[in-house]
Amino acid sequence: MEHYFTNNENLKSEIREITYQTNDITLTFLSDNGVFSKNKIDYASKLLVETFLKYHSKLDSELVLDVGGGYGFIGITLAKLTGATVEIIDINKRAIHLCEKNIKLNEINNCKAFESNVYENVLNKYKYIITNPPIRAGKEIVLKILMEAKEYLDEDGELWFVINKDQGAKSTKKALEKWYNIEIVEKSKGFFVFRAKIS
Ligand SMILES: C[S@@+](CC[C@H](N)C(=O)[O-])C[C@H]1O[C@@H](n2cnc3c(N)ncnc32)[C@H](O)[C@@H]1O
Repeated sequence: MEHYFTNNENLKSEIREITYQTNDITLTFLSDNGVFSKNKIDYASKLLVETFLKYHSKLDSELVLDVGGGYGFIGITLAKLTGATVEIIDINKRAIHLCEKNIKLNEINNCKAFESNVYENVLNKYKYIITNPPIRAGKEIVLKILMEAKEYLDEDGELWFVINKDQGAKSTKKALEKWYNIEIVEKSKGFFVFRAKIS
């Protein structure tokens, strides 16, 4: 069975265009078969971004990492709206290719995307790491993304993520409490948005 995180170069390409409107800014995203939420911006990702922006609407030169960025909705929106320097990683080659197109399409020059299995190709440290983690890749990968984030965060950095209550939001919070001060900053339609700081 194909998943949105498997690399399948033979999968037929059917590019579609999705737009996201916020205030007076419209962002356009090209999407395709074989990537997560290919036909519309994912509700949980939108909730995560819009909650993050309530706390950090303007950033200067801070570095932000979007882990499992898909076609780039979270990372590109934050680069455009906050001014931060954003890096997007994903294991899915097609997703990274779409990210690169979407960065150009939206004329963003403070954002780049590269392939990485979890943090394998990541060299920097970040003020913010943000992720809508790949639940379907399994709990082990999700916990690896969330646990190992602390190795890539500045000392005063923050990890932001979203999980549904039916997909282990509470058990994930418990598992992370040993390493992070973690709080729920938003709840909507069963999705919890978390902010975690290294304790
Ligand atoms: C829930 S989707 C979120 C996608 C995107 N952020 C969005 O909002 O549309 C999770 C993403 O994680 C990626 N992913 C899965 N396993 C991964 C891994 N081991 N390392 C990096 N990314 C991974 C998937 O390819 C997918 O794009």
